Amino acid sequence: MTTTLITGANKGLGKETARQLIANGHTVWIAARDEARGRAAAKELGGRFVQLDVTDDASVASAIATIEADGGLDVLVNNAGIGLVALNGPDALKVFDTNAVGIVRVTEAALPVLKRSDNAVVVNLSSALGSFWANHEPSRPASHFSAIVYAASKAAVSMLTVQYARTVPEVKFNAVEPGYTATELGGTDPATSGGRPVGISARVIVRMATIGKDGPTGTFQEDDVELAW
Ligand SMILES: NC(=O)c1ccc[n+]([C@@H]2O[C@H](COP(=O)([O-])OP(=O)(O)OC[C@H]3O[C@@H](n4cnc5c(N)ncnc54)[C@H](OP(=O)(O)O)[C@@H]3O)[C@@H](O)[C@H]2O)c1
Repeated sequence: MTTTLITGANKGLGKETARQLIANGHTVWIAARDEARGRAAAKELGGRFVQLDVTDDASVASAIATIEADGGLDVLVNNAGIGLVALNGPDALKVFDTNAVGIVRVTEAALPVLKRSDNAVVVNLSSALGSFWANHEPSRPASHFSAIVYAASKAAVSMLTVQYARTVPEVKFNAVEPGYTATELGGTDPATSGGRPVGISARVIVRMATIGKDGPTGTFQEDDVELAW
């Protein structure tokens, strides 16, 4: 039995990943900062709810303690993220706190529990917008899309993945680019959003959350292929 924790799982890609992993037989902790939204998603999908705000150390510690007391953790999907576009100090701090520092908070709290699994896996939601390669490759949308702070926060997510993979070899860490997706973050208005459905984009998250003991670590993945950093 594989137990998986997904942050920000009350909607969007996190919720769809929970749906697909539950269908794969995982026991899934649907973590959400808002209790009502999280409980509703967990009830709909047949997952377990745990309150978890990735910007709040006490909330993270309490969530991991709940999961540990219930029997442990094999897979962590660091999915929670925001895409504020305002260019000012407080908003930039909020974006980095949620998208990058949040991963450090949750990963550090979860690592002692994950290390007891015989196949410990972490999947970090990055983005091609945070890829130095894609930002310089004319054929990639990331090379002509401006998202200054969000993209920088996702570059941080990618480097956190590389560094954690090297520093903690007993846990497999991989970053994923889910593709431009019609969610609240990606934009759900069909008139302005060219985002694809969550059902397709979540597949790469599921693929990397279900790797075996000999699976890769320290890689960046998109759909069925590896993506350049
Ligand atoms: N959509 C895309 O095109 C796209 C492309 C590349 C990467 N991504 C990444 O994919 C991930 C999921 O995004 P999405 O498109 O599914 O966006 P979404 O529909 O807006 O969902 C984001 C989720 O993160 C949660 N969240 C935000 N701040 C949080 C916090 N402080 N603590 C805990 N949860 C928090 C949200 O909870 P609330 O409901 O409480 O706000 C929500 O559940 C993000 O990391 C995003 O950067 C998305």
